[in-house]
Amino acid sequence: MTIAAPVKVDSTGPNTDGYRSFRLGEFKFRRDEYFVYVEWPTGKHVMSADSFLKALQRDVAWQFFYGIVNFDGVVGTVNHYGTVDLFAGRYNDVYRKAELDHLENFSTPMIKATFDEMLDDWTNAGFDPFASPTETGSAFGIKHGDNRAAITRHRVTASRMVSVPGDEPLRNDENGHPVNRHFLDVAQDEPEKHPEPGFDGEISSFNLYAYLSRSQVTWNPSVVSVCGDSLYCPTTEEYILPIIHGNDRVEWFIQLSDELIWQVEDRDSGAALAKVTMRSGDVAAMPADIRHQGYAPKRAMLLVWENADPALPALISSGQLPSVPVEI
Ligand code: PHB
Ligand code: FE
Repeated sequence: MTIAAPVKVDSTGPNTDGYRSFRLGEFKFRRDEYFVYVEWPTGKHVMSADSFLKALQRDVAWQFFYGIVNFDGVVGTVNHYGTVDLFAGRYNDVYRKAELDHLENFSTPMIKATFDEMLDDWTNAGFDPFASPTETGSAFGIKHGDNRAAITRHRVTASRMVSVPGDEPLRNDENGHPVNRHFLDVAQDEPEKHPEPGFDGEISSFNLYAYLSRSQVTWNPSVVSVCGDSLYCPTTEEYILPIIHGNDRVEWFIQLSDELIWQVEDRDSGAALAKVTMRSGDVAAMPADIRHQGYAPKRAMLLVWENADPALPALISSGQLPSVPVEI
């Protein structure tokens, strides 16, 4: 992996089971055969190495995403779009009340460079953090090899729409990925185009279901169309979303196939709010002040519809815009 690291990554410290240790400010990270250990001045935490790597992979690949990426109920990041907070216990009522929470702010390139190296060093050969559990090897064991091809995968981000000239070509055409075992019944024919004379090069279309049926990754929205700030980010889901996402804006979910169960919690305290079961055809708006984690019993297709307007987080946190899209 080539890492454009504008900062020196601090990885001095004990080396356990062949893995490097890392520091970010006063945070220390270490892994061994099974676990990742995080320490900060007022506390320490342990996570399964596979859960940690799956969350870290998404945080890095999504450039810290919108709002908050909770790796679990304790550790995570907040995107300030230029800088990033790394926190422990900040969005956990118990840690807050006990005053054991800790937060440090880093420039995005600095935290990205450290997270990139951590992901690279701690991902063993055969383990793909984006794959479903039944489609990848194990994250565990003493350090053995790496999986750079998987962790540096290129995420599709269209500037207009997948298949439009000058934009991303169709991933299924390009790489010939096989249809996933759960989507063998998905039709693979492409739409017919009948442009008026003279408009041949200006009409594009593609079969989104066919495209998604061949996705190799889970819980990884790709931007397939862009219209102003409106982004269509479809994704295929299986097992559990590896992060608990804290929103900083409203996002819409359109269930394109199968079923997802969402656990919805208060974004700041983690208090349970709702369980939402979405079946094919269901549409939901997730408010701007919640956090959520999805469960997919079978591989499922979801369209995440994002509003990328950079003014939204401030408008919502200052109360100028409501946290919900519609007051009922
Ligand atoms: C979300 O947090 O809204 C989210 C993230 C990844 C997905 C789906 C939804 O695959
Ligand atoms: Fe979300």
